[in-house]
Amino acid sequence: MINIKNLLSSEDLTKEDLYEIVDLANEIVKSPEDFSHICDGKILGTLFFEPSTRTRLSFTAAMDRLGGKVLGFSEAGSSSTTKGESLQDTVRTVSQYADIIAMRHPQEGAAYLASLTADCPIINAGDGGHQHPTQTLTDVLTISQYKHSLENHTIGLVGDLKYGRTVHSLIKVMNLFDNNKFILISPDELKLPQYVKEEVFDANSQYKEVRNLEEVIPECDILYMTRIQKERFFSQSQYTRLKDSYVLDCEKMKLAKDDMIVLHPLPRVNEIATEVDKDPRAVYFNQVKFGMYVRMALIMKLLEANNA
Ligand code: CP
Repeated sequence: MINIKNLLSSEDLTKEDLYEIVDLANEIVKSPEDFSHICDGKILGTLFFEPSTRTRLSFTAAMDRLGGKVLGFSEAGSSSTTKGESLQDTVRTVSQYADIIAMRHPQEGAAYLASLTADCPIINAGDGGHQHPTQTLTDVLTISQYKHSLENHTIGLVGDLKYGRTVHSLIKVMNLFDNNKFILISPDELKLPQYVKEEVFDANSQYKEVRNLEEVIPECDILYMTRIQKERFFSQSQYTRLKDSYVLDCEKMKLAKDDMIVLHPLPRVNEIATEVDKDPRAVYFNQVKFGMYVRMALIMKLLEANNA
């Protein structure tokens, strides 16, 4: 059984925890109506100090589908933060009303800070460029759904590997499973940082770094596209130069395996042409739905672990 109070980082979860959450999520996918009263009487607080479409709404939908209720805010401007209330006081207050809280904040470490004063479990729904563990759970469930295993995959990760928090977490998690290989596809300026490589990879890890997508797409079982994140750049001219480094289109998809899947945490800008959406290997909108199911499983597991 999962034995954590909060989910602040993907590293909080062991391989066994990941299997437990994914197995439960797979059961929910098969028969969601069996879970529709599991959280009757429970309340989820959603504290979003930064914009979100998928994460906030999927948490809301997840709690609704478990029979619970949701309260919260979608921007700091509508909370007493504008009067100078600290994050710790805000979270401590909401934890008097809610049984579990999902929060997003632009500052790295904000979820950890919140967990120090909250009287209920905290789920990190994104803290700056640091962590987004429920996106990683979404990605892992999607891989499990389409590939029926979390092992023996060649995973191509494309785009902003420097600032992309979802990429860092996904590599860390998929590296826990046997015989996964990583192809890191990025411009030189957006390569996976050395500290992430040192944290994750050891002498047995299999990875390579390349610039050219077409060269390696035939090898990939999973292609994880990412957005070049304008908001993380200090220089507008560098962003403009790099923003269209990779555009996945139907021509490039012709080079890929018939059973390759394309994932993207979304939102996308230009990195996947909309013509690709019709390709059955493009599963990023189904991935969005799996995000709701895996958050249902996570809410259940954390409430169970905390007897809340
Ligand atoms: N993938 C993701 O975190 O999307 P949102 O920013 O819309 O929540």
